[in-house]
This record gives sequence, C-alpha cells and structure tokens, in this order.
Amino acid sequence: MRSEAFVIWGASGHAMVLFDLLQLHGCEVAALFDNNPSAMSPWPAIELFLGMDGFAKWRESSPSQLPAAAIAIGGWRGRDRCEIGEALRAAGLALPPLVHPSAVVAASAVLGAGSHVLAAAVVGSRAHLDDCVIVNTGASVDHECRLQRGVHVAPGATLCGCIDVGAYTLIGPGATVVPRVRIGSNVIIGAGSVVTRDLPDNVIAWGTPARIIEENRR
Ligand SMILES: CC(C)(COP(=O)(O)OP(=O)(O)OC[C@H]1O[C@@H](n2cnc3c(N)ncnc32)[C@H](O)[C@@H]1OP(=O)(O)O)[C@@H](O)C(=O)NCCC(=O)NCCS
Repeated sequence: MRSEAFVIWGASGHAMVLFDLLQLHGCEVAALFDNNPSAMSPWPAIELFLGMDGFAKWRESSPSQLPAAAIAIGGWRGRDRCEIGEALRAAGLALPPLVHPSAVVAASAVLGAGSHVLAAAVVGSRAHLDDCVIVNTGASVDHECRLQRGVHVAPGATLCGCIDVGAYTLIGPGATVVPRVRIGSNVIIGAGSVVTRDLPDNVIAWGTPARIIEENRR
C-alpha cells in the first residue's frame, strides 16, 4: 500500500488497532471522528470531531487533497460501518482495503472497499470479501468463502471453505464454521461456537453445535 494520509472514524479500541496498522504502512492519521459525544481521542495530537457536523467542520479546514478513511467500528455494528463508509465515499474519501503485514491473503482473494484483514489473519483462495468486512486478529477465512458487506469475523474465528455469510453478521471470537454452511444476514454467532448447519437471517446462535437462542433485535 502506498503511504498516504488517513482519517479514522470511531475512537474505540478498534481505532487503536487501525492506527498501529496504518503506522506500519507509513501512513499518518490526520483526524478522528466519532458519533459519541463522550468519546475522547486516544492521541493528544489528533483532534476528535463529533459526527457528521464535525466532519463538515473538518472539511472546511482540510487540504484539497482528501485523505483516505478507515472505519473503526467493530462488534456487531457492521451496518453502521457500511453506512459511514458510504457517507465518506460520497464525500470523496477513498476507502482502501487494509491488510496487516503479518496477514496472508491469497492472490485470488477479493477484498472489498474498506475491508480490514488484521494481524495473523488468513484469507484463502478465491475468498470474496464485500465492502467493510473485518477479518480480525488471527481469524481464518478459507477458500471460496463469500462474506457480504459489513461482516465481522472476530479474533480467532475459523471459517472453513465454501461458506456464505450474509451482510452485517458477526462470527464471534474463536467460533468455527464447518465447510459449505450458509449463515444469514444480521446474525450473531456466540464466542466459541461450532456452526454445523445453515442459519437464517436475524438470529443469535451459540454453543456446540450452535443452536438458535433468540431473534437478533440488535
Ligand atoms: C452471543 C453473545 C452476544 C450473547 O450475549 P448476551 O445475549 O448478552 O448473553 P448473556 O451474556 O446475557 O448470556 C446469557 C447466557 O448464555 C450464556 N452464553 C452467552 N454466550 C455464550 C456462548 N458464546 N457460548 C455459551 N454460552 C453462552 C451465558 O453464560 C449466560 O448463561 P447463564 O444464563 O447460565 O449465566 C455473547 O456471548 C458473545 O458471544 N459475544 C461476542 C461479542 C463479540 O464477538 N464481540 C466482538 C469481539 S472483537
């Protein structure tokens, strides 16, 4: 990745992860944004702006050469991640995929805009990650998996080959999904689960084997 300036949206712990990743690529962080009025910048030298109003204020003083953006919203908030990504792209900011130097991404894999593959993660042959997907620390997404927009594969989770995951779904930390399973949109898979069967949209499931516990109203 060529060195460039970035802004980060989201001032949580995930922002710290992305900040360090951007530093490894020689990129500087020009500004930070968050929708939460009580958020604070973890870096005294980097100003925090509040929400879209803050973004407009920052734009007034920002250079004509707009930086790229990295969206630091994790957990099960994939829909928020995608919506903010769309707003920033509409404002003219690029949303490049980011890959940690210690991650392994197959040459035949496709990474959508704003997708992040973090430290020690693996993305296998012909895997397809749509926009704003996170493959978090030490997670593995194997061959021919298809992850729709806003999916989050949490730290240490394993998706075996040929798995489809619907938009905004969170695969919890350390979960394992066996090959050829289809998981719907807006699903939460609990930490440490083993998913052996297809799951519909809008459910929370966990356990070994994973069972549907309740509807996902988050
Ligand atoms: C699935 C999950 C969201 C459920 O959260 P919740 O609805 O708040 O559930 P609770 O914490 O109230 O737990 C309810 C019960 O289910 C159990 N339980 C919750 N998650 C479980 C899991 N993954 N496996 C087994 N049991 C689980 C709890 O121990 C509790 O049992 P109890 O009633 O006997 O005490 C949560 O456990 C989880 O896995 N979160 C992962 C979050 C995540 O991945 N964040 C991103 C990390 S980068």
